[in-house]
Amino acid sequence: MLYQVFSYFRFWLRSGNAHGLHSPFVFGLYNDVIHHDGQFAPFNGIEARRRELLSSPESITVRDFGAGSRLGAGRQRRLRDIARHAAKPARFGQLLFRLVNHFRPATILELGTSLGLTTAYLASPNPGARVVTFEGCPATAAQARHTFGKLGLPNIDLVEGNLDDTLTPALAALPGPIDFAFFDGNHRYEPTVRYFEQCLPYRTERSVFVLDDIHWSAEMERAWQTIRQHPEVMLTVDLFFVGLVFFRKNQPKQHFTLRF
Ligand SMILES: C[S@@+](CC[C@H](N)C(=O)[O-])C[C@H]1O[C@@H](n2cnc3c(N)ncnc32)[C@H](O)[C@@H]1O
Repeated sequence: MLYQVFSYFRFWLRSGNAHGLHSPFVFGLYNDVIHHDGQFAPFNGIEARRRELLSSPESITVRDFGAGSRLGAGRQRRLRDIARHAAKPARFGQLLFRLVNHFRPATILELGTSLGLTTAYLASPNPGARVVTFEGCPATAAQARHTFGKLGLPNIDLVEGNLDDTLTPALAALPGPIDFAFFDGNHRYEPTVRYFEQCLPYRTERSVFVLDDIHWSAEMERAWQTIRQHPEVMLTVDLFFVGLVFFRKNQPKQHFTLRF
């Protein structure tokens, strides 16, 4: 917690807004997509499902994979607690929706499904796009399937199992490149960088990769710095809770830190 407060303070000192942005691409992205506050029709249904989960008395036996937990340990967790702590808040789901709506990716990956709320935001802008989402915990994956059924989203493939085992074959089976990826699976240095590097050969110059919780811990901070410095990465936008990565050629390498 203390780490995050310190990180946010440092971010605040460094960050800016659209004023003085020299990149026309980032200027447009910031004004038209990041700071757009319009409502889109699918938001209501997804937020209704979130409210249902937040008020659910049900518990499930979760199998933990992520940072800070013992691999394979089973324990009871209330759905409402998972919805409160693991799912990205509406504001970020809606940011991802707008990014997908803007860039129109055909193939979207999400590493870390949880209850499927953010997956729903990724899948909603375009029913013609394919979303491949990965979840290790079977009981959590079952709840995510429930989310997709309730919201009538047929364009999602949920890959169940440890990403360490499932990512490579799933990437090999993709019909085309990864146009958009949201990395929200395992908030530690090594797996974050490894999954990113595994996805790299499948990106194009126009792909957008989004990393979650880049300042959540010292390890994630280090992962973000490693990714920023990667020679294939040409442009990054640090919004504190998420980082956007672009591979656009024919431009100098640039990093932006912007308030969202
Ligand atoms: C932070 S939650 C994802 C939240 C979701 N993207 C959302 O915004 O609603 C991370 C999820 O990743 C899953 N996960 C973590 N490490 C994993 C791994 N190695 N393989 C598969 N799933 C993993 C966890 O079980 C958890 O459900």
